[in-house]
Amino acid sequence: MTIEENRSLKIFNTFGLPVQARFFVEVDSLGDMEEVIASSEFKNYPHLILGGGSNVLLLKDFPGLVIKNNIVGIEVLNEKKEEVLLKGLSGTLWHHFVMYAVERGWGGLENLSLVPGSVGASPMQNIGAYGVELKETFVELEALELATGTIRIFTKEECKFGYRESIFKHELKDKYFILSITVRLSKHPKLRTDYGDIARVLVENGVTEPTVKDVSDAVISIRKSKLPDPKEFGNSGSFFKNPEVTREVYEKLAEQYPDMPNYPTTQGMVKIPAAWMIEQCGWKGKRVGNTGSHARQALVLINYGGATGSEIKKLADDIIASVKEKFGITLSMEVNVI
Ligand code: EPU
Repeated sequence: MTIEENRSLKIFNTFGLPVQARFFVEVDSLGDMEEVIASSEFKNYPHLILGGGSNVLLLKDFPGLVIKNNIVGIEVLNEKKEEVLLKGLSGTLWHHFVMYAVERGWGGLENLSLVPGSVGASPMQNIGAYGVELKETFVELEALELATGTIRIFTKEECKFGYRESIFKHELKDKYFILSITVRLSKHPKLRTDYGDIARVLVENGVTEPTVKDVSDAVISIRKSKLPDPKEFGNSGSFFKNPEVTREVYEKLAEQYPDMPNYPTTQGMVKIPAAWMIEQCGWKGKRVGNTGSHARQALVLINYGGATGSEIKKLADDIIASVKEKFGITLSMEVNVI
């Protein structure tokens, strides 16, 4: 484990922003991480933990220690006739973890195929796609308390998962380093093909009795067709969350916008796709300098090359202002602005 000075973070964030870290270290094991938290750089400077770097917008050089998590591995903890407990170490690429399960026909994660980022980042915001959230298969996680170096297990309840939310974004923000997660997968899963385009793609592919792999393949092809590849254009997936409003607010808006897509939540609220509102405000596919909203998914902001974090933030603020003006709804950002 070596702590470097003044390292560029360009390849460590999917927006491709060329900011510098004052100090930078890659950790390959729990032992490395224990050394890091004992170091003077960790004790005397702010820190930032990076997994896949797919959910951060870096506005300027980071004046402290950036820790890149490379602790990788996947382990079957327990295999029964019907189900499997699968553990992933936090630096593992999320998609590798999903593919490990999909290749074996173990169901539960297939709708989350190709979600960018790492296993350790997945519980931070309870990742979700195509009608499925991590919390549905999640069992527990192991995390290192940064202040004390002790390892603690968090059960699903203790993680306080919500829509793109967990305790690690709030009460326990920056307090823990996630070491691993464990999920419960099913050998006879009830496949979720109801969301969005999955059913259509399955039909197109001539699939009548889908397997875990078929659903994963469908999700991968939908994502590839809509979401830009960060290798081509810097981006961090959805930039904003889909807002939830009360039924009363929704009904008022629906009078004015009868075509507005809407999804009732189990808590009696209504979720309105931010992408739709952004599109209605004329931002979809619009380029502003080196940034813009993606032409095939308005919720994704793009670095066309050479953009700064502040330019992207300015675009985000302008989008928030125009959605507020037209719909009276304040969008909140899904990415962490640092
Ligand atoms: N829509 C538009 N314009 C667009 C895109 C979408 O009007 O440019 C409308 C669609 O017609 C549809 C609705 O918005 O009625 C929902 O669209 P979509 O299924 O593409 O999903 P989303 O709500 O925009 C969410 C997640 C994505 C995830 C997809 C698929 C959030 C913030 N985003 O997007 O997650 O892949 O559903 O499940 O919840 C991410 O978090 O980085 C991410 C990509």
